[in-house]
Amino acid sequence: MLSDKMEKALNGQINEELYSSYLYLAMAAWFESENLPGCAAWMQAQAREENGHALKFFKYINERRGRVTLQAIKEPTKEWKSPLAAFEASLNHEQHITGCINDLMNLALAEKDHATAALLQWYVNEQVEEEANVDSIVQKLKMAEK
Ligand code: FEO
Repeated sequence: MLSDKMEKALNGQINEELYSSYLYLAMAAWFESENLPGCAAWMQAQAREENGHALKFFKYINERRGRVTLQAIKEPTKEWKSPLAAFEASLNHEQHITGCINDLMNLALAEKDHATAALLQWYVNEQVEEEANVDSIVQKLKMAEK
């Protein structure tokens, strides 16, 4: 069984992941409006991936006989001043998510909840990849602006 505190924290992370999906969908919509379909497709793929992250927590909470409770998803930003600004916002957001995952891992370790820690290790690794991917695009766009 999950502790009440862990269950609440994991439900909070479902909301973070769904917001991530919504944010990337908003970026995809903005890139489409700017006639940049390649960037829009990249963001759509990210949005689907974030939805998958949310569903992985959803499945896990149920497997541990917890209760999934969905909360309102906040409205994402609608436009950015340049493609670089959008990708920088994405990088900042991923750094925020890494912080959330680290907080969850700290809680799991404090509670000696090894099963949750094992699940979270997947997200720790995933965040390394997510930050590296978007950072590489930010660096390329910065280079292109020189
Ligand atoms: Fe689910 Fe991009 O973090």
